Amino acid sequence: MIVYRRARLSDVEEILKLINKYAEKGLMLPRTRSTLYEGVREFVVAAENDQIIGTGSLHIVWDNLAEIRALAVDQSYQSQGIGRKLVEILLQEALELHCPQIFTLTYQLEFFRHLGFTLVDKEQMPQKVWKECINCIKFPNCDENAMILNLE
Ligand SMILES: CC(C)(COP(=O)(O)OP(=O)(O)OC[C@H]1O[C@@H](n2cnc3c(N)ncnc32)[C@H](O)[C@@H]1OP(=O)(O)O)[C@@H](O)C(=O)NCCC(=O)NCCS
Repeated sequence: MIVYRRARLSDVEEILKLINKYAEKGLMLPRTRSTLYEGVREFVVAAENDQIIGTGSLHIVWDNLAEIRALAVDQSYQSQGIGRKLVEILLQEALELHCPQIFTLTYQLEFFRHLGFTLVDKEQMPQKVWKECINCIKFPNCDENAMILNLE
C-alpha cells in the first residue's frame, strides 16, 4: 500500500537519491543534504514498505505565492497517479495557508497542464522568485517553463 505523509529526517537520504538521479539527467535541479535537512518540513513523500517512491515540496515565497518544487516519482512507479496525488496534497496545504497562487518551474508541461496549471511568461514572475536561482548551475540561462495555478 502506498502511504502519503510528511517527510522525516530519516527519509532525507532516499529523497536525495531520488531527486539527484533525475538531476544527473538534467530533469531537475540537484539538491544537497544540507538544503534537504534545512527544508525537510516543506516535503511530503509517497512511501511503499517504508521505501520512498515519490516526493515533492511546497516553498512559500511571499504573502500570495508559493512554489511546488523538487517533485519526483521513482521511474518504476510513474504513470500511476502518484505525482498527481503529491501535488494535490501540496495544493491542499497551500489552501490551508490561504495562499492563492502556486507556481512551478518545470520541463513537465503536460503533467502540470493536466493538474490545471497554465504556462506564463517567466518575465511576469515577481523578482522574489529568482532569489535562489543565483545558486543554480544553469543561472543565468534558465530554460525551465514557469507555470501557475490560481486556487481562488
Ligand atoms: C513529472 C512526474 C513527477 C509525474 O509523476 P507521475 O506519478 O508519473 O504522474 P501521474 O501518474 O500522477 O500523472 C498525472 C497526470 O499527468 C499525466 N502525465 C504525467 N506525465 C506526463 C507527461 N510526461 N506527458 C503527458 N502527460 C503526463 C498523466 O497522464 C496523468 O493524467 P490523468 O490523471 O488525466 O490520467 C514524474 O514523471 C517524474 O518524477 N519525472 C521526473 C522528474 C521531474 O521531471 N520532475 C518535475 C520537476 S518540476
